[in-house]
Amino acid sequence: MKKIEIHSEAVEKIKKFTINDQNLGFGKYMAPIMIMSEFKNGAWGKTSLVPYGPLQLDPCAKVLHYAQEIFEGLKAYRHPDGQIALFRPELNARRFNFSARRMAMPEVPEETFVEACETIAAYCRNIVPKRIGESLYLRPYMIASEAGLGIKPAKEFIFGIVASPSGNYFASNSVKVFVERKEVRAATGGIGNAKTGGNYAASLHSYKRTLDEGCDQTMWLDSKEHAYVEEMSGMNFFAVMDGILKTPPLSDSILEGITRRSLMELALKRKWTVVEERIHIDELISKVKSGECSEAFVCGTASVLVPIASFKFDDGSTYHMKEPEGKLSLELKEELVNAQAGRGEAPEGWVHFTPNIEF
Ligand code: COI
Repeated sequence: MKKIEIHSEAVEKIKKFTINDQNLGFGKYMAPIMIMSEFKNGAWGKTSLVPYGPLQLDPCAKVLHYAQEIFEGLKAYRHPDGQIALFRPELNARRFNFSARRMAMPEVPEETFVEACETIAAYCRNIVPKRIGESLYLRPYMIASEAGLGIKPAKEFIFGIVASPSGNYFASNSVKVFVERKEVRAATGGIGNAKTGGNYAASLHSYKRTLDEGCDQTMWLDSKEHAYVEEMSGMNFFAVMDGILKTPPLSDSILEGITRRSLMELALKRKWTVVEERIHIDELISKVKSGECSEAFVCGTASVLVPIASFKFDDGSTYHMKEPEGKLSLELKEELVNAQAGRGEAPEGWVHFTPNIEF
């Protein structure tokens, strides 16, 4: 590793670490090592691999009051030959810096971001799980650590990466969606296309209602007309309508998912028709009822691709998909998962092997 400083205590911790649980869940277990770097006086200091542990923050750190923070999610997979590979980390680096600019935070050089991901994944190689659906989930983040209650962009930041050997995000094979018609996740001109905690915080009140309604995910509509489908709280949306794969076009209130992009690329490679088009909720439901909408699914790094079983509204009306385990979605999912885990062909540049480090 060229630029990352490796602390020997971190190496000792990871050498001794094991997990004895067949049910990893998502984000339940954390690797005992993490990446850390601090931004002060206008520059990033060294980036280090250190033992996992609490951060020391002033109670007036701006992140705690004004939510100046961003994060990413990406996965490392154990390939059948034992090599550990990240999936398209360059795209996460790019999106991280897009979010940083939107949130008035310093960029992390893309090569440092990618090298930091490679380093933590390489040192975690013995705890990257190997069963289908499992991976090492990496969570890069940046927070404003400068103390002070004035509302202005901070000048001091912490960049870090933690890693979690994880299984599937959802316990079930399909999700029930609650359509949120009143509250809004992200407004035009806002921060919905940045991967920042505030967007997820904005989703939580409705998520409580979603759970009370017996559903798994909130579906968000646009902020002006409360009519056009945008995304789920942490996932993008696709539907197969009239045999065409459709997804809402990107805007400043939708996060550009790397899984969304990858699935569209795979579908185009198969010569399917893929359309980025606004989807009116009434049109969607009428096509669910008639069967013209034959499949619908959510997708994201953590969730991968999960078919939607039903759509529920606040008056209790519920519309079930005729075929929740859609043929096209499952074909796409299989191709994506095989490419990620080295069990099938992957388009050029998707698989990013980590170096094999002696320790
Ligand atoms: C991811 O998919 O990586 C996310 O950050 C979304 C969240 C549901 C975990």
